[in-house]
Amino acid sequence: MNVVILAAGMGKRMQSALPKVLHPLAGQSLLAHVVGTARSLSPSRLCIIYGHGGEAVPAAFNADDIVFARQEPQLGTGHAVMQALPFLDECTPTLVLYGDVPLTTTDSLQKLLACAGSESLGILTITMADPSGYGRIVREQGRIVRIVEQKDASAAELAITEVNTGILVAPTAALKRWLAALSNNNAQGEYYLTDIVASAVAEGMPVQSAQPGALWETLGVNSKVQLAELERVHQRNVAQRLLEQGVTLADPSRIDVRGTLTCGRDVSIDVGCVFEGTVTLADNVRIGAHCVISNARIGDGAQIKPFCHIDEAVVGAAAMIGPYARLRPGTELADAVHVGNFVEIKNSQIGSASKANHLSYIGDATIGQRVNVGAGTITCNYDGVNKFRTIIEDDAFIGSDTQLIAPVTVGAGATIGAGTTLTGNAPPDKLTLSRSKQLTIAGWQRPAKQKK
Ligand code: UD1
Ligand code: MG
Repeated sequence: MNVVILAAGMGKRMQSALPKVLHPLAGQSLLAHVVGTARSLSPSRLCIIYGHGGEAVPAAFNADDIVFARQEPQLGTGHAVMQALPFLDECTPTLVLYGDVPLTTTDSLQKLLACAGSESLGILTITMADPSGYGRIVREQGRIVRIVEQKDASAAELAITEVNTGILVAPTAALKRWLAALSNNNAQGEYYLTDIVASAVAEGMPVQSAQPGALWETLGVNSKVQLAELERVHQRNVAQRLLEQGVTLADPSRIDVRGTLTCGRDVSIDVGCVFEGTVTLADNVRIGAHCVISNARIGDGAQIKPFCHIDEAVVGAAAMIGPYARLRPGTELADAVHVGNFVEIKNSQIGSASKANHLSYIGDATIGQRVNVGAGTITCNYDGVNKFRTIIEDDAFIGSDTQLIAPVTVGAGATIGAGTTLTGNAPPDKLTLSRSKQLTIAGWQRPAKQKK
């Protein structure tokens, strides 16, 4: 099958410099959602018609399974499909999708394809309480005979509640013939794709219809209001799926998944969390309120307390993170690691049962097992030009407010006294510290306020 995605329209009501189809829904552009659905049908040709917004649309996709055809000027949906014709395989049918209708399901499209087969025209239609703005499906003796656009419809036709979703599938050779015969003699002066229906009927080709599983599958985005509405529909669907899989959501209306969230058994997620990219939560993971977690793996039984930001990181089983922890790219925490409040970790590996519980920066470090990193410890990993690693071996104890001037190694079992500025390696099993002697000045008095 060929798939043509119409994405040349202007999207004036978005009030934005970004082409409409590139606006994101759940972290992916509207058009990327449609491309994903199209790919789920394994088309032999996939053609996107672009125009408004110029090269920004093709530039947003780096894929060799997509052909982009420019429509300039935009003279209607029929004219748009004409631009795809040179790229289509005549031996299989062509499915037309809209780049601004992001939530159509593969199931509904398969239903349409099955009812149309390869020898008839198939239209995805839906009945709406308020059909205004849509093309109406005109039937005689139950059979579809044509589609009439709102602006061209008579009073009797306007009363029809079955509408054209815009999604249709047609035998490709016939489609070419019908498009070549289109005229723009109508209220909008456009070449209407919908006029091919009357051509099919005139040729005696059967016209079939199928209905989508839900109304939202056919809704398009023309404004930020509609974009926000469809975002909520999508998030509600994702939350519903998670609940059905047994995930506990404190409030299914207060979770946002912008990508793929995979959960094990007995996972619970509190309110206000955002998941981006590919996130995996193993069995028994608990996510506290208001965490933002991107491209991360969280191990069995780990607990992420409220207000954590985790990005491109791996958290081991039974770890305790946060509240208010920040795990940046390249962080790998082994089992039972504890990371407490206001601790930032970047590009570092931390061994099992090690702890950094308060106010630290750990960057470019390799930390062993059972290490205790005291409050306020900083790895000074950057000299303004280059970055260097800090190595802390198993069972070391780093006193509070230590600065580790990298490159530096703390040996296994070493103790670093609080307040140390470590500029050289600390040997294993010994106490190392740098600290000026404490003084008490006898007879010292606070200055008194001077009289004028
Ligand atoms: C179209 C249908 C209408 C249907 C409605 C569903 C026609 C003539 N009418 O109307 O029956 O009920 O969709 O939403 O087909 N586009 C281009 N190039 C163009 C014109 C449009 O690429 O020259 C794209 C738009 O970007 C959009 C889609 O085609 O993705 C539909 O265009 P739009 O202007 O929204 O069509 P409607 O008038 O709403
Ligand atoms: Mg429209």
